[in-house]
Amino acid sequence: MVDKYAVLGNPIAHSKSPVIHEAFAKQTQQNMSYERILAPLDGFAATVQDLVAKGYKGVNVTVPFKFEAYTLADERSDRALSAGAANTLIFDAQHIAADNTDGAGLVRDIEQNLNVPLSGKRVLLLGAGGAAEGVLQPILAINPALLVIANRTLDKALAMAAKALTSATSPVPINVTACTFNDLQDEQFDVVINATSAGLTDTALPIPDAVFADGCLAYDMMYGRETPFMAQARAHGAQVADGLGMLVEQAAEAFYLWRGVRPYTRPVIEMMRAL
Ligand code: ATR
Repeated sequence: MVDKYAVLGNPIAHSKSPVIHEAFAKQTQQNMSYERILAPLDGFAATVQDLVAKGYKGVNVTVPFKFEAYTLADERSDRALSAGAANTLIFDAQHIAADNTDGAGLVRDIEQNLNVPLSGKRVLLLGAGGAAEGVLQPILAINPALLVIANRTLDKALAMAAKALTSATSPVPINVTACTFNDLQDEQFDVVINATSAGLTDTALPIPDAVFADGCLAYDMMYGRETPFMAQARAHGAQVADGLGMLVEQAAEAFYLWRGVRPYTRPVIEMMRAL
């Protein structure tokens, strides 16, 4: 029997997850299948129940179902709890466990693949939507010197910072503040992470060039295109990365949860880059 997995989303045709998981399965010799499944917008829970009944072992979950995946699970990991969303479900008989591997994927890509330690760094997180929320706690867990959350809508950034401060488990006092893009006048950062969806519409963010300190890493969680954020950072001497490495790393973390085997990600990132 082949163990069955899938990625659920709407839309889903664009998803690269099957290619990544097939490469992991081949590399680690796991007997498994992985497919894309389009879940109806009003039928996510029913789709999950159907897959459980058919003996699937787990699914990845993408837009717009990460919150529903979180709520329907019987059990949630600390990572899912802090993100308030799930991108990975693990099926065990009639029991569904939820986890969130997005933040771990981002941190691993930055620290291991790009070789930029986050500990002690001044980090700027742009955006306060679901994508930003998913990576906030894993970044804080590495103890950056400072984390500033900047967002177009100030209230959302303030709420995220307040939540981070109240739910912090770190023994080290955390330094988290929130502001709008306009407030970022003279501050410099070692790592700037774009978690907004502005790049989808090729919209530039109104951030000053001065945010990119010498030797800064500018990371866009989006992949597959050069966003205006990446172009701005590149023009001001930053090291620039897109989110392809994060995509592969979050998949590797999900694969590890399901299979207990950690695949090598570097050859898979290189393969995806060449596609
Ligand atoms: P996601 O799941 O991608 O995070 P989301 O929860 O809708 O999607 O959040 C989108 C994020 O991108 C938000 O931080 C949003 O800013 P607002 O909170 O002010 O809406 C940000 N965003 C989207 N388009 C933007 C734009 N054109 N300029 C600046 N920020 C933008």
